[in-house]
Amino acid sequence: MIDKKFGIIGRPLSHSLSPMLHNYWFKKYGISANYSLIEIELNEIEKIIEKIRNNVLHGINVTVPYKQAVIPFLDLMVGDAKKTLSVNTISLNNEGKVVGNNTDIYGFEQGFLNKLRNQNFEQNVVLVLGAGGVTASVIFALLNKKIEKIFVSNRTVKKAYEIKKKFPSIEILKWENIEAKAKDVDIIINTTSLGLTEGSDFKQEFKTTKPNLVYYDIIYNPVETMMVKKFKKKNILTYNGLEMFIYQGQKSFFLWNKINPEIDIDLKKKIESKLK
Ligand code: ATR
Repeated sequence: MIDKKFGIIGRPLSHSLSPMLHNYWFKKYGISANYSLIEIELNEIEKIIEKIRNNVLHGINVTVPYKQAVIPFLDLMVGDAKKTLSVNTISLNNEGKVVGNNTDIYGFEQGFLNKLRNQNFEQNVVLVLGAGGVTASVIFALLNKKIEKIFVSNRTVKKAYEIKKKFPSIEILKWENIEAKAKDVDIIINTTSLGLTEGSDFKQEFKTTKPNLVYYDIIYNPVETMMVKKFKKKNILTYNGLEMFIYQGQKSFFLWNKINPEIDIDLKKKIESKLK
């Protein structure tokens, strides 16, 4: 008998590696629990949250496109969720309240920002591409690091302005101008879905950039997007989103189980074997 049930809600979910991550740790730490994919429609969110309230489900992760849609059904938001209005981890607290948290920020900090050798990047100019589910978490983490100059560009400009409401200091850039802007920024962060396996890709060439540019792609499936490949060829430092994914999962696991699970070599190998 499995004692506890966890899962991830979103749509589509077939490519999610979260079950592999959490089930690996449940086994490693001898916890009788199972983590599964819960692919749902928007109108099923309430029903799923009720399962948390009734202890049928013991914790859920939330992914696109529901990170904001879950908020009205929660009793409270804590930690980084309050600041970003983006929730990716839900559980029941000791007082029986359904609580939403955000571990994407921690994931992005641990999986990217804290890894940069030179930590004096306050003066860096950053170009954030996209204004989707995870972009607010990325911007929040950048602001935490005291980076002042952040340009945000999204194909649908209205969504970029929605993010500016949360973070007034960011500057919005038209999507047509990203290639020109890329020439004089220090860090480019792709938070769009462009480059995903079987998805569409950037049409821009990004031929001219600073030689010390750092390119971060939130995508990890494929492990190397076309953009990562292109920049690598030019000896530009690149990162993919795999570490962010693993670290956000680590913090969710901790919030649910009060164990900080180890990111060991076998786990990394197991995940990488599933990716192209
Ligand atoms: P959501 O927007 O529902 O939160 P997401 O997967 O988190 O979904 O975000 C997708 C991101 O990739 C968005 O920034 C999206 O831009 P739009 O807001 O204009 O849709 C971006 N994106 C997806 N396909 C794109 C394309 N072909 N060109 C440019 N941006 C694209």
